[in-house]
Amino acid sequence: MNRVSEEKSVRALLKSGIAQLREAHVPSYTLAAELLLLHVLGRDRAWIYAHPEEEISAVSAERYSTLIGRRARGEPPQHLTGKQEFWGLEFEVTPDVLIPRPETEHVIEVALDRLAVREIRAGRSQKTDGAGFEIGDIGTGSGCIAIALAKELPAAAFIATDISSAALAVARRNAGRHHVASRIQFVECHLLNGVVSVGAQHAAPHLGTSPNASGHEPPVTSHHSRFFDLIVSNPPYVGRREAATLMREVREHEPGIALYGGEEGHELYGDLVAQAATLLKPAGILVLELGHDSLPAVAPLLEESTWAKVGVTNDLRGIPRVLAAQKT
Ligand SMILES: C[S@@+](CC[C@H](N)C(=O)[O-])C[C@H]1O[C@@H](n2cnc3c(N)ncnc32)[C@H](O)[C@@H]1O
Repeated sequence: MNRVSEEKSVRALLKSGIAQLREAHVPSYTLAAELLLLHVLGRDRAWIYAHPEEEISAVSAERYSTLIGRRARGEPPQHLTGKQEFWGLEFEVTPDVLIPRPETEHVIEVALDRLAVREIRAGRSQKTDGAGFEIGDIGTGSGCIAIALAKELPAAAFIATDISSAALAVARRNAGRHHVASRIQFVECHLLNGVVSVGAQHAAPHLGTSPNASGHEPPVTSHHSRFFDLIVSNPPYVGRREAATLMREVREHEPGIALYGGEEGHELYGDLVAQAATLLKPAGILVLELGHDSLPAVAPLLEESTWAKVGVTNDLRGIPRVLAAQKT
């Protein structure tokens, strides 16, 4: 077969992509087929519709056909394009990390609002650059929360933890891509254990140091200056008992360690709130993303003796999605 005969027009490729995805019952199949074509061609939508007869090389047509096949078999589009937008920033995503979700942007909004209010109450400017702030992100995944906050607070320092070394590798690359790597120390540990467990050593390097030559993280200290102004977390919160109700592309393609918090789903919040109570400075802020039915199990963990200004923020579907509180 000669090369020309293998070429196809933009219109023909798009038509066959749409037909395959429709047959496979892929949601928003027209948009999905378009997005994959834009990705393969490196063009925008206007170009595609202005050049329907343009011949596409056999190599690109083959690549498109492979991606359409993978999408038809249920792979998330973000795994095919390798990216997802969050807070107006583009993040690399791989099957090792949760694909950042739009509802998680409420965590950023609430955290920034709470910090601004705290600044006003302290008689300082509402618009802070985060100078002197220590911020913890538990279960950082792609790094989207820590990195979005680092862009908003260009002088703040961060510790971002995850139990998955593969996820942390992606988060580090995203931090580099967005030029905030020098301010985020990534630590592989359970919740904030890496911060708590070496607390007595007081020999930590400055926040923001990179892994040492052996590839291991430097120890993190709980020295007084390392106590946090803000702790944020979007922990795994789906119950294993409800796994069957998840969309197939989530259940089969996103990491279980990022999805499931235990049999019920809310199991990690108890330790998380207890660690935050220990590691936040007085008047420090805790902001947690919640599962669709987590609020009744999580709200009682914020005991009045330790927590004040407890607030719940609903997402755009009216689901209580973010729980925030201030340490007394
Ligand atoms: C729901 S994902 C959130 C990822 C990211 N923060 C976001 O909002 O898109 C939860 C993350 O927590 C991590 N994780 C799960 N169990 C953990 C634990 N015990 N300690 C620390 N991280 C954990 C997972 O690897 C995953 O990256």
